Amino acid sequence: NDRKHFYVCKEDDLADNEMVRIDPPDQPPVVVYRVGGNFFATDNTCTHGEASLAEGEVDDDFIIECPFHGGTFDIRTGEAVDFPCVLPLKSYPVTVEGGCVYVNLDEGKAPA
Ligand code: FES
Repeated sequence: NDRKHFYVCKEDDLADNEMVRIDPPDQPPVVVYRVGGNFFATDNTCTHGEASLAEGEVDDDFIIECPFHGGTFDIRTGEAVDFPCVLPLKSYPVTVEGGCVYVNLDEGKAPA
């Protein structure tokens, strides 16, 4: 399971507005979301506190709400949207091949 092509789950394992946390070796956890039939990935740990975003709520507008204080991020870019989240998350490219979902852990980037 290499870092550029890190296996997450089967495409069918996630319904829309669901997400799954992954714990790759040697880096903080990442969360993979499915919204509108497309897949996105960001860091899993909120930049405000130590919350796991995989325990929050993701909606049709590509917004993840943190379970601790209700701050939000855009899952497409990692950008912080609502207070108290100010610092962005990194986001990662996701590909679907042969019904399997992969994330590229080497290409994580935060919005400028
Ligand atoms: Fe996420 Fe505070 S820990 S909003």
